[in-house]
Amino acid sequence: MKIIIVKNQVEGGKVAFDLLKEALASGAKTLGLATGSSPLEFYRQIRASDLDFSNVTSINLDEYVGLSPDTEQSYHYFMAEQLFNHKPFKATYIPNGLAKDLQETVEAYNRMIEEHPIDFQILGIGRNGHIGFNEPGTAFTSKTHVVDLDDSTIEANARFFEDKSQVPRQAISMGIASIMSAKQIVLMAYGAEKADAIEKTVHGTVTEEVPATVLQNHANVVLIVDEAAAGKLE
Ligand code: GLP
Repeated sequence: MKIIIVKNQVEGGKVAFDLLKEALASGAKTLGLATGSSPLEFYRQIRASDLDFSNVTSINLDEYVGLSPDTEQSYHYFMAEQLFNHKPFKATYIPNGLAKDLQETVEAYNRMIEEHPIDFQILGIGRNGHIGFNEPGTAFTSKTHVVDLDDSTIEANARFFEDKSQVPRQAISMGIASIMSAKQIVLMAYGAEKADAIEKTVHGTVTEEVPATVLQNHANVVLIVDEAAAGKLE
C-alpha cells in the first residue's frame, strides 16, 4: 500500500487527479466512482480540466434505497452535479435505489461490472472502516448487495439531511469483492475523525470487522491522507 500524506484536500485532489490522468493515458476505460466529501476536490479538478470522458464508462459504488435521482441527497444527484453534467461519459452506472425488485437490480449490477472490469477505483472511507456502503461484518467475497446501514453511518451522514430520521436505512452497494477486482484503487481520507479507520486500514489485522483492511491484500492501492487522518500511523 502506498501512502501519500498531503497538506489538504486541494493537494489530495490534485494527487488523485494526476493518478487518474496517468491511468487514462495508459488505457483505463472504466472508472469506479465514489461520493461523499472526500472526493469533492478530485471532481472539481476534473471539471476544470480538459480531460475527455466520451470513451470512458463509470460505475458508482453505491446509492441509498428509496431516494429518487432528483433528491439532493441521492448519489445520482451528487454525481450529476459534481461530474456528469459537466463531463459527458460514454456510459454511467449507479445502482437504482428506487427499483421495485432490489434483488434483480443487484444481479444486473453485478453482470454489468463483469462486463466492464474496473481499471481505476476511487474510494472514501467511513469512520468505522466501511468502503462503499460495506459495513463491518460484510463478507470479503461479497458482490453488489442490499445493505442495512450502521447506526454510526446514519449518524455520520445525517449532516446531509434535515435530521437523522430522514437518512435512508438501506443502500445498495458494490461488494468488497467487486471493489477488490479493480486494477488500481485510490482511497482519500481527510480529518482526525478518519485517523482510527486509516490506522486500522494500514496496520490492523485484516478482518471483515474493518472492511478497509482488505485493501492490504490488493497489489495496487494508493492512500491519500492529510496529516490529521494520518495522525495515528506509525
Ligand atoms: C458514505 C459513502 C462512502 C464514503 C463515506 C465517507 O458512507 N457511502 O462511499 O466513503 O460516506 O464519506 P466522506 O468522504 O464524506 O467522509
